[in-house]
Amino acid sequence: MKRDSFGSRFGALVALAGSAVGLGNLWRFPYLVGENGGAAFIIVYIILSFLICLPIFICEFVVGRRAQENAYSAFRDLSGGSWWKYVGLMTVIVPLIVTSYYSVIGGWSVQYLFKALNFAFTSGETQSQMSTMFTDYVSSPWLPLFGHTIFLAVTVLVVGAGIKGGIEKFSKVMMPVLFVIVIGIAIYSMALPGAARGLEYLFNPDFSKITAKSCAAALGQAFFSLSIGFGTIMTYASYVSKKENVLFQSMATAVSDLSFALIAGIAIMPAVFAFGLNPQSGPGLVFETLPYVFSQMPVGGVVAILFFVALLVAAITSSISMVEVGVAYLVEEKKIARTWACLIVFAMCWVVGAFCSMSFGPLSEFKICGRTIFDFFDNMSSNILMTLGSLFTVLFVGWSLKKTDIY
Ligand code: PFF
Repeated sequence: MKRDSFGSRFGALVALAGSAVGLGNLWRFPYLVGENGGAAFIIVYIILSFLICLPIFICEFVVGRRAQENAYSAFRDLSGGSWWKYVGLMTVIVPLIVTSYYSVIGGWSVQYLFKALNFAFTSGETQSQMSTMFTDYVSSPWLPLFGHTIFLAVTVLVVGAGIKGGIEKFSKVMMPVLFVIVIGIAIYSMALPGAARGLEYLFNPDFSKITAKSCAAALGQAFFSLSIGFGTIMTYASYVSKKENVLFQSMATAVSDLSFALIAGIAIMPAVFAFGLNPQSGPGLVFETLPYVFSQMPVGGVVAILFFVALLVAAITSSISMVEVGVAYLVEEKKIARTWACLIVFAMCWVVGAFCSMSFGPLSEFKICGRTIFDFFDNMSSNILMTLGSLFTVLFVGWSLKKTDIY
């Protein structure tokens, strides 16, 4: 049977950009900018993205495009069947772990979209009431599981429909919508009185704010945002034609990812400053501070709906790319039908994600290596395994891959 593939260059591009643009851009990037001193952090982030992450992205792309198979088989077959296949296995397992906890935050976005649709952010609550609303919600035992289930189910449904008919079609419609919404919010946010201070925070660097810690945070964010080290780019690249230009696709993805992060910053920071709030509120920025901002701004109810639609779309296109890594492996290596493979991945990620979700509530006292379940998985995959995956991929291309396989 002929292997499914992307139908066009644009289709591949929006799918790759869909993987890169996600919660990392709309949720993580703005709060990291807030925590790490604004413009100077952004400059370090841009430099590291192009200097370190883009070359790794290109390596992953080269392997996938050459192999035209899932990440595990790609490492095994291109290396002639040596131990590299275990690296391949790691890059199949890690995205499944990430999907599990990513889907928990995706689930929060689902729930916050419902809240926005009920105009829950227009009733004049105080900032601390918004924070309590969030803490009560994430720590309740069942409600977050509902969002997690819906989010994962939609992800798996799209993946189940295949590469061309599911992932590509979904991304082609949703990615332009996502960009238009966030650009619209950014324009609106810049027009608010007092927005200039937010723009200054984003674009006027204070280099004394650069520390080893902020550089490490910028590098970690650049890895995560470009989806490298997880087998995702490799898997997507295996669905593009061998004639496709690696440099073009890689640059285009990196530029879309970076511009989206900046637009997200412009959408959020000026509004936060316009209402005299603190940008350093950490992970709660999007779910605690912003709802308060929406409740204060003119037509904030509508802006809130648009924002949470955007957050949800960005998150889904990313989790789709991670789920596809596992599904491709099960279909090609284990000869399992695509629908069944999707159900297996759904079940695995649902169970692990449920534990991660409950680690904000009933299981908050349960610690692994001193961390909650959510933090443990996040730290292990986003800090350690992702870096290892990237390192091995680069070593693989440098040492093991034949030169003729690269072009
Ligand atoms: N790049 C995505 C984001 O910024 O939210 C997250 C991600 C997607 C990480 C796919 C890893 C991955 F394989």
